[in-house]
Amino acid sequence: MEKISIAIDGPASSGKSTVAKILARDFDFIYVDTGAMYRAITFLAIKYQVAFSDESALAELTKKYPITFKQSVHGQLVFANGEEITQAIRQPDVTAAVSEVSAHAKVRNELVEAQRQLAEAGGIVMDGRDIGTTVLPEAEVKIFLVASVEERAQRRYKENQEKGIDMDFEAIKEAIAKRDYLDSHRSVSPLVQAADAQLVDTTGMSIDQVVTKIKEVICSKGF
Ligand code: DC
Repeated sequence: MEKISIAIDGPASSGKSTVAKILARDFDFIYVDTGAMYRAITFLAIKYQVAFSDESALAELTKKYPITFKQSVHGQLVFANGEEITQAIRQPDVTAAVSEVSAHAKVRNELVEAQRQLAEAGGIVMDGRDIGTTVLPEAEVKIFLVASVEERAQRRYKENQEKGIDMDFEAIKEAIAKRDYLDSHRSVSPLVQAADAQLVDTTGMSIDQVVTKIKEVICSKGF
């Protein structure tokens, strides 16, 4: 497999990270979860009591506490300045604030730069909201994954249960709809399908079916 870049964008819980990880494993590519980077800054803001509205102080956090990933037998681990925060960044307090933190241009500039460096050598599967439009506009393959709010809330509810996070289904649905709105209405790099991205609606599809569909798209582009 040629060392191409695959950009996977879409709203919260559309299945991006699940399929991105499978594709990265199958192609022996590097997987980069950009949402984890915005979550890490949000976690740091809570930890160091930086206001979610303080753009400059938040951008400083990204410089002071570098975010790194490490592969382990338990999957990908996330670190901020060496501290392991893999589970902490999935907690509801981080999820509730991450859209506000990620809307700041200065925060995005720092993280987009870091994401481009991670992708420099190619052979990458990167998921997020603005990968195809802003981070890697030259990516050879761009996928825009969507699914109904109802189905995404069901997936997140199940995931939470498995992780022991207790959250009401209706509250999850509401939180997803709110994040959809904030992520697609912010002024800097909003969530939007790139003109050259392939739309894949995963509502009612199994993970295997989505992976197969994306591999078909990759093949159809001659890779
Ligand atoms: O994919 P996720 O739910 O872990 O992402 C968390 C938040 O981070 C999401 O609500 C918006 C933001 N995000 C972003 O603005 N740009 C990205 N490339 C990835 C995530």
